[in-house]
Amino acid sequence: MEKIYVVEPKRLGKIAPEIYSVFAEHLGGVIYDGIYCGEDSVAENIHGFRKFIIDKMREARIPLIRWPGGCFAETYDWRDGIGPRSERPVRINWWNQCDGRYEPNQIGTDEFIDFCRLCGAEPYIAANMTSTTPLDIRDWIDYCNSPAGTTTYAALREKNGHKEPYNVRLWGVGNENWGGGGNMTPEYYANEYRRYAEVMNNASAGLELISCGPNGADYGWTQTLMDSLSTKRGPMAGMAVHYYCGSAGDTINFTDDEWDQLIRQAAKMREIIERHWSTVISYGMENQAKLCIDEWGCWHPGGTGPSKGANLFEQQVTMRDAVVSALTLNIFNQNCDKIKLCATAQLVNNLHTLFLAHDADCICTPNYHVFNMYKGHQGGDALEAFATDNDVTVSASEKDGALTLTAANLSCRRDIELDLTVYGKDYNSADIISLANDNLRAHNTFDAPEAVAPTSAHIDSFDGRIELARGSVMAITVKLK
Ligand code: AHR
Repeated sequence: MEKIYVVEPKRLGKIAPEIYSVFAEHLGGVIYDGIYCGEDSVAENIHGFRKFIIDKMREARIPLIRWPGGCFAETYDWRDGIGPRSERPVRINWWNQCDGRYEPNQIGTDEFIDFCRLCGAEPYIAANMTSTTPLDIRDWIDYCNSPAGTTTYAALREKNGHKEPYNVRLWGVGNENWGGGGNMTPEYYANEYRRYAEVMNNASAGLELISCGPNGADYGWTQTLMDSLSTKRGPMAGMAVHYYCGSAGDTINFTDDEWDQLIRQAAKMREIIERHWSTVISYGMENQAKLCIDEWGCWHPGGTGPSKGANLFEQQVTMRDAVVSALTLNIFNQNCDKIKLCATAQLVNNLHTLFLAHDADCICTPNYHVFNMYKGHQGGDALEAFATDNDVTVSASEKDGALTLTAANLSCRRDIELDLTVYGKDYNSADIISLANDNLRAHNTFDAPEAVAPTSAHIDSFDGRIELARGSVMAITVKLK
């Protein structure tokens, strides 16, 4: 029988809860008809935000939401999104050339902060450095963070109904500046970063600025950025990394070989983390450039979601995507010493989504279930854990005397039996949650919202035997003695 070993005394670092964050962009159906259905909607809502999503975000303890883009951020003027809603301008959305939609600005900074608070999540704002000035962003920070009764922007915030400052800590300095964010070279971006970051940092105490890091395996970008920023440092608390996997057949009707192909692409995340990190530490930048993998997930052909292609990039989520989530989150846990935060793209009606929604309907996808199953890792001490079978991905952590072990069977062809050994501690009972389906192409729809749903079991005398069905995900919690 194959084995899973957990080495309890071997600690790899603290798993930042922010590793379990999400990204919500003004793109397709993410915001409008996604998180926001409007106060007059047939869907149950709080201030127009879907109550179903709020409740589920709280249940999974999603700690942080990145907003407003993505590419949308490149042309976003935050001033368009404040004040009386009826007076807000309609603008060309960045994605307009793809879907013909315009941005009504009904969700702006105040509403985003409200949504975060309803969900119990922290805001992470990606600022536009492509088409606005450092002063524009300084003003945005002023609006968000200046204490009541100080600046004119604090007074404007108060006039808009929000006397107390939002104290937004995390700010992205640009987005994908190697691409849609201005097609910059790393040298040019590093110079711009210093200029923007200096002005932004000056606006409020306690800010944590995230620079634009590489596109996936672009190790040259990180090398040049670190080379430039380490000699003349600007204020920086993290470096964003974006990595999507995809181009592995149809979203739903993939072949077994395409399953393998996608898993291999997802597994590349480990190398991407390790190689960028080795560059970061070679420049002594480990305190400035902790990795923020703030866009990750599967990017399949769109059109398979409930909107049938009306929502740009909306795609269904099968067991294959759930296994990618499980594998990726295990890699993040195992590398938690290098990672400040991660955000899956995107929250609803889009790529690698956690929810699908339209009008009165709203459902969880298998990806959501994986995030919910993995929440025991948040804030835990990551432990060394490995499996003797290469088709098994595993990670483990300890918090408050409980061990959380998450595993997935990466094979779509064979079930695997495993035996768990925890070196250094004993255990007896176990709570096991399993996400499995005989049909690996299974997915949830408005008509069948629980086609893929987790099952739970409590075992009083757990002997360590684990059966991982092909293409399945499992979370085991044991009380350590
Ligand atoms: O998530 C969709 C898009 O992917 C984002 O807007 C952009 O940052 C990335 O290229």
